[in-house]
Amino acid sequence: MSSLMNEAKELMKLWGWFRPARVLLTANNYRIFDHLEKQLSAKDLSKKLKTDLRATEILLDALSGMGVLKKNKNIYSNAPLASKFLVSGKPHYQGDIIRHADNLWQNWSGLDEVMKTGKPYRKAHDHKSFILGMHNLASLKAKDVIKSVGIKGVKTALDLGGGPGTYSIEMARHGVHITLFDRPETVDIAMDVTGKAGMKNIDFMTGDFLYDDIGKGYDLIFASQILHSCSEKESKNLLKKCRKALNKNGRLVIQEFYLEKDRAHPVNSSLFSVNMLVNTPGGRGYSLHEMKKWLLKTGFRKIKEKLMGDTVLIQAVKL
Ligand SMILES: C[S@@+](CC[C@H](N)C(=O)[O-])C[C@H]1O[C@@H](n2cnc3c(N)ncnc32)[C@H](O)[C@@H]1O
Repeated sequence: MSSLMNEAKELMKLWGWFRPARVLLTANNYRIFDHLEKQLSAKDLSKKLKTDLRATEILLDALSGMGVLKKNKNIYSNAPLASKFLVSGKPHYQGDIIRHADNLWQNWSGLDEVMKTGKPYRKAHDHKSFILGMHNLASLKAKDVIKSVGIKGVKTALDLGGGPGTYSIEMARHGVHITLFDRPETVDIAMDVTGKAGMKNIDFMTGDFLYDDIGKGYDLIFASQILHSCSEKESKNLLKKCRKALNKNGRLVIQEFYLEKDRAHPVNSSLFSVNMLVNTPGGRGYSLHEMKKWLLKTGFRKIKEKLMGDTVLIQAVKL
C-alpha cells in the first residue's frame, strides 16, 4: 500500500470510529446480547425482535466482524466479551452505560451548533440509564479505588454526588457511616441500589450541592466525578464548602479523569471535556495541576495524588 494511503488510514480511523460505536449502541438497544447467550440464526432472532431480516443479518455480521459475536455457519452467539459485559443481570453488566452513550450520541450531534452558541445541546437524557451507567462503571473498580483512598480510622464519610452509591456501598462494607448526598431523582435510584446490596449504614441527603447544606462532621469527603460538571468558579466554591464540612485532620478525596497540564492529553480526557461542553453550561475536565492549585488556595495541605488507570485520586487534608 502507498505511504499516502497508510497516512490517510490514520485519518480514516479517526472519522470512522463512529461506525462500530453506532452498531454496538443499536445492538444494545435491541438487547441482542441477551438473546444471543443461545445460538440463533438471523431469521430466528429477527422474529424474536420483530426486526427486518436483511437489517438484522447485516448488523449481526458487523458485530461478528467486530469480535463481539461469533458466527458459525450462519448461526450467531455471544463472543466472550459480550457474554461477560453485555448480558442483562451479569455482575459486570455495562448495558446501562451504553444506553447512556446512545443519549450522548444525540447530544454530540449538536456539536456544530454548540460551537456557535457555547451552550449545551442536551436534547436527550434518561436519568436512570445515566445513574445505572455510573454503577456499571464504578462496579468494575470500586474495591480498588476505596482501597487506595484508605478508610482505616474513618468513622463518618460523605459521598458527595454519590450517584448510584457504588462507592458508598464499598465504604459502608468496612463499617464507615456514610452520608450520600445527591439530587432527589438520583437518591431514589441510590436507595434501590444500596438497599439491594443490603447496606444499612448509609444515610441519604438530597439537594443541590452548589446551593444547599451538605452537613458537617465528616472524617472523609469523597467527591468522585463531580467537579467536571461544575464551572471553575463553582468547583472552587464547592472545595471551600467541603473544607468547612470536614473535621480537623479530615480528608477530601477527589476522583476525576486524569488530564495533563496541556489539557489535551490523554485524549480520552480531552474528549471527555467535549462531553461536558455538549451537556453542561460550564463544565469541562480539569487538569491535575489546576485542581491541586485550587486545593492549596482553599487551605488544604498534604496534597497527594495517585493515578488509577484513566482517573486520578487527589487527597487533601484539612489541618
Ligand atoms: C458522574 S456522576 C458520579 C457518581 C459517583 N460519584 C461516581 O463516581 O460513580 C455525578 C453525580 O453528581 C450528581 N450531581 C451533579 N451535580 C449535582 C449538584 N449540583 N447537586 C447534587 N448532585 C449533583 C449527579 O446527580 C450524579 O449522581
